[in-house]
Amino acid sequence: MDDTAFWDKAAPKYAKEAISDKDAYNVTLGRMRHHLQPHFNVLELGCGTGSTALELSPGVASYMGTDVSSVMIDIARAKLTDDLPGSLSFQVGQAHDIPDSTYDAVLALNLLHLLPDVETTLSAIYDALPSGGLFIAKTALLKDGKWFLGLALPIMQFLGKAPSIRSMTEAELRTLLLDAGFEMIEDIAQPDIAPRLFTVCRKP
Ligand SMILES: C[S@@+](CC[C@H](N)C(=O)[O-])C[C@H]1O[C@@H](n2cnc3c(N)ncnc32)[C@H](O)[C@@H]1O
Repeated sequence: MDDTAFWDKAAPKYAKEAISDKDAYNVTLGRMRHHLQPHFNVLELGCGTGSTALELSPGVASYMGTDVSSVMIDIARAKLTDDLPGSLSFQVGQAHDIPDSTYDAVLALNLLHLLPDVETTLSAIYDALPSGGLFIAKTALLKDGKWFLGLALPIMQFLGKAPSIRSMTEAELRTLLLDAGFEMIEDIAQPDIAPRLFTVCRKP
């Protein structure tokens, strides 16, 4: 099963799941609201069922969410109601395929560790942003996680219960972001079985 099929299958359950750590989620939502200005055109890659897009889009000029899974995008589109800003839209797409437009900020939340071609995607994001543009990500760091993840993950993947994941440490993620040309302006570590790092980067 390739990963698109994995996410298509996972989407209905994913849509119903509660956010695992609501406090941590709210902290990063608050930081994103702080950084995203009202005139911003925002692109969210790997937007899933659009929950974060719905939270953030009222505060910006336009917001496009893309995801490789058409089932995720169908669920996100079903949430579009008349009281939401018309500038919120969703479309199917690979993360490295940045839709042609002008963006002030690109978001990749819980995504980078899922990308086999993360360097290509980071380079595409960098190219799509103007100088001063923001790249905001939240990334799972499996190599910094609990020891048993290294045993459990291959079994879950074999059973079709987990997607391909790039295991990395915080240091490796920082190197990826810096090598892509970004400067890091803020980060928040979120401890968990697989810790996450929320990062705000700027294109110089
Ligand atoms: C863990 S979910 C995160 C969803 C959402 N960003 C969130 O934080 O709730 C990962 C999402 O990335 C999408 N995804 C995985 N690989 C992708 C790729 N190569 N390009 C675009 N989206 C991808 C999946 O379909 C899924 O919706």
